[in-house]
Amino acid sequence: MKQSVKLIVGNWKMHGLSAALVEAQALNDALRDGAASARVGVCPPATLIDRMRSVLADGPVELGGQDCHASPSGAFTGSISAEMLADAGAGLVILGHSERRTAFGETDAEVASKVEAAIAAGLEPIVCVGESLAQREAGEALAVVTAQVRGSLPMGLSDHPFAVAYEPVWAIGTGLTPTTTQIAEAHAAIRAAIIERLGQGASKAPILYGGSVKPDNAGEILAAPEVGGALVGGASLKAADFLGIIRAA
Ligand code: 13P
Repeated sequence: MKQSVKLIVGNWKMHGLSAALVEAQALNDALRDGAASARVGVCPPATLIDRMRSVLADGPVELGGQDCHASPSGAFTGSISAEMLADAGAGLVILGHSERRTAFGETDAEVASKVEAAIAAGLEPIVCVGESLAQREAGEALAVVTAQVRGSLPMGLSDHPFAVAYEPVWAIGTGLTPTTTQIAEAHAAIRAAIIERLGQGASKAPILYGGSVKPDNAGEILAAPEVGGALVGGASLKAADFLGIIRAA
């Protein structure tokens, strides 16, 4: 069976000043000739989205945000709405990243509300799930990601493009990765939970893997069953590293 095109997305997290735009430029230049067989996105800090839109204007690299508020506007000092991200040039938005679930106490229900806001604004959400090390060691990994999928994907999502990212918390920024068997098990459980929640119409939504993806392990990870792409942190900050991952897809 022909594999569909992989979705490779860079999550810059809270990294990137104006000077980092040259990395986006280099990425765009390298991919402009249509050489990449993958769909590629970059999610920089919100302060860079509008300027990055200019840098990426004539290329294939898509833009995204890293979070949004559940309301379209209002008295929420410091927050950014999905509409604002779309207005600035984003087409994608990462939601429910474990760093937000942990550091900002985001619940599944809050993530689901943000997903609804994202689709109302025409954004394609990338909804993150993943177990902690303690949960994996307790044998709860599959139950945790299944519950997160059930709680974080609103019913209305089935008619819209979206992705889910499996990011085991213990693999993020640590250099540790699950075995391909563990990745395949988690992705199969996530696929089953997506279909149970949204129906067969959602059977093609890509499930990305995230957590210490590097140029040297990307090929093996991306070839695992049900891996529809990658969500890349540290290795997406430099165009050369990110291109190494994109070329492995
Ligand atoms: P690293 O690739 O730096 O481990 O980060 C993964 C991640 O959290 C992407 O969202």
